[in-house]
Amino acid sequence: MRILAVMNQKGGCGKTTIAINLSSALCRLERRALLVDFDPQSHATVGLGLLAEQYDLTTYELMMDPAVRIEDAIQHLDSGIDLIPASTVLSGIEQELSDRLGREERLANMLSQLDDGAYDFVVIDCPPGVGLLTFNALLASSEVLIPVDASFFSVHGLAKLRETIEVLEDELQHRLAVHVVCNNLDTRTHFSRGLLDEVEKFHRRRPVFSRSSACRIRCGYRRVHQLVA
Ligand SMILES: Nc1ncnc2c1ncn2[C@@H]1O[C@H](COP(=O)(O)OP(=O)(O)OP(=O)(O)O)[C@@H](O)[C@H]1O
Ligand SMILES: [Mg+2]
Repeated sequence: MRILAVMNQKGGCGKTTIAINLSSALCRLERRALLVDFDPQSHATVGLGLLAEQYDLTTYELMMDPAVRIEDAIQHLDSGIDLIPASTVLSGIEQELSDRLGREERLANMLSQLDDGAYDFVVIDCPPGVGLLTFNALLASSEVLIPVDASFFSVHGLAKLRETIEVLEDELQHRLAVHVVCNNLDTRTHFSRGLLDEVEKFHRRRPVFSRSSACRIRCGYRRVHQLVA
């Protein structure tokens, strides 16, 4: 089971869009995918047509009460995607767990309840910013997918995340494969071409590439093939 956190501290760079499209493309490729909405904004939940307030069990309850069974929180959608919804109460988790030991490992413990063969991929849609939720996601994952859009702040978010990943590797021996997804770039602009060059220099492999919404689905689908091959 591959567990991927979709993460960048920069808001609005395409994390949720990619998490939803990736999960959907994985289903089309007949891979079993579980999408975990780990953002109090609940955009993955809302984006898949659900109302977060409707559900008694969300990522919040799973984080707060280790006795809750993960299977009970999974929604099986007609599209084939399995989703654990989020709700706005998740925003209080940092404070509510502030004095609990092992609070950074709650998501990892929760996902470890899944049978090994239950899913091929677990995709975690992370919130913007850096905090307890993003640490939980990193510790639960074996891979990080970092969307970078055409902005300096997005590249700054990539650099900061690489630093955090290095600390996790050095201090906790937690290894993470890193994928960079250049999202929503228009390569006709000088800025975007420079950004791609920088990301390629910085990152050993060529970044997965999505040029614009017009070609997003077609291009994204092909790239997903490369990612899961
Ligand atoms: N490749 C793309 N082509 C066109 N529009 C896109 C693309 N990727 C994202 N967007 C749009 O950009 C906006 C922000 O995307 P999204 O919500 O996925 O970002 P996010 O990183 O999840 O944001 P947040 O940090 O708030 O969670 C949305 O309106 C989305 O539709
Ligand atoms: Mg989002």
